[in-house]
Amino acid sequence: TGLITLDSGYKNTGSCKSAITFLDGERGILRYRGYNIEDLAANAEFLEVAYLLIFGELPTAEEYDHFKKTIHKYTIVHEDMRHIIDGFPRSAHPMGVLSSATSALTAFNPVPVNVKCNKDVYQAVCKAIAKFTIIATWVYRKREGLPLNYYKNSTGYIENILRLFFEIPSEEYSINPTIVSALNKLLILHGDHEQNCSTSTVRLVGSSEAGLFASISSGVSALWGRLHGGANQAVIEMLEEIKADGGDVDKFINKAKDKNDPFRLMGFGHRVYKNFDPRAKIIKKAADDVLHALGIDDPIFDIAKHLEKVALEDDYFKSRNLYPNVDFYSGIIYKALGMHLEMFTVLFAIGRLPGWIAQWKEMRQGGEPIGRPRQIYTGAKERAFVALDKR
Ligand code: CMC
Repeated sequence: TGLITLDSGYKNTGSCKSAITFLDGERGILRYRGYNIEDLAANAEFLEVAYLLIFGELPTAEEYDHFKKTIHKYTIVHEDMRHIIDGFPRSAHPMGVLSSATSALTAFNPVPVNVKCNKDVYQAVCKAIAKFTIIATWVYRKREGLPLNYYKNSTGYIENILRLFFEIPSEEYSINPTIVSALNKLLILHGDHEQNCSTSTVRLVGSSEAGLFASISSGVSALWGRLHGGANQAVIEMLEEIKADGGDVDKFINKAKDKNDPFRLMGFGHRVYKNFDPRAKIIKKAADDVLHALGIDDPIFDIAKHLEKVALEDDYFKSRNLYPNVDFYSGIIYKALGMHLEMFTVLFAIGRLPGWIAQWKEMRQGGEPIGRPRQIYTGAKERAFVALDKR
């Protein structure tokens, strides 16, 4: 084991070369394929960014049209998938159902993708985006006890997501452009984030040549945890707890600083960003806009802003470079959209999907070897077997 370097949590280990996302944690820079996240969030559509992440360039009008049409084509999900989702208790956490249902999609799409064939890969990409989106919304409909909705090819992807989630038969459903724009921005900001926990999981699972849906399903499971994507749910739970407790922000700041207390400020801190998270800046502004446009006055938004202010002036947080991350304000927007708390991480997953697919494609087409970290063994030395009746 002399040659093996231990790096718990891979804090300093590069696992691959990648041309997808550039991240400079010191300067708070995030770029997809060379484009600054601020520009993309302000100007692009989510599916355009998905195309950029996956295929490397922004699509031409013709390429974009073809991409959207192909995605639309694959939005019909096998009827038996409804029964699989039906089998879950309504109380099941949507991330667990989403991960299982995504894995189950393998059964309906059993032919492995030929990664050497661009046409095959293109189809697999469109299929994954289409079916995963539908399944994610069905998980919500099931939870709410609502009939499942289908994609309408006449409207855009974001409008479809909103309809698939919220439209109720026999009720007029009008789509608010402020909500469309906020959701579009949020999904773009979640699009990719280089070798984070879920993406590394997708690459690792995919490296064994397990299928694309199996790899995505593993990404959903990894994202679920509260130290990763699950933080967006945990942030709102924390803010509600602070509110219920009378809004004493200092008390919770002190809890987060107390090393004998397991409490952490959710939505704070990041493995790579040590200055600020550029996504959090945009999302905070978007939360302001959305709440204003919808005429919502949410006291937990004020608590969040107050919490941020106090933390940023506190030596504990300053000395450890702890800043609000992407999950700190995103939940406030999801809540304003009328989304159930347990669905927040599902929305993160819809946003991260293009990143997972892009990284899977890069890894497989780049011919990377199977991922297989080493270890430093700390267990027992060789010893003789003891028969059951002698133990
Ligand atoms: N509250 C209080 N203290 C913290 C926090 C926090 N949120 N985050 C880190 N620290 C402290 C930590 O206790 C440690 O202190 P010390 O040096 O005295 O032992 C120091 O800061 C460094 O933290 P770490 O745990 O070694 O850092 P890490 O890179 O292993 O973990 C993290 C990064 C994001 C898991 C962590 O900051 C955290 O748990 N944050 C809260 C959960 C969260 O918001 N996760 C979302 C991450 S961003 C988007 C995403 O991935 O979904």
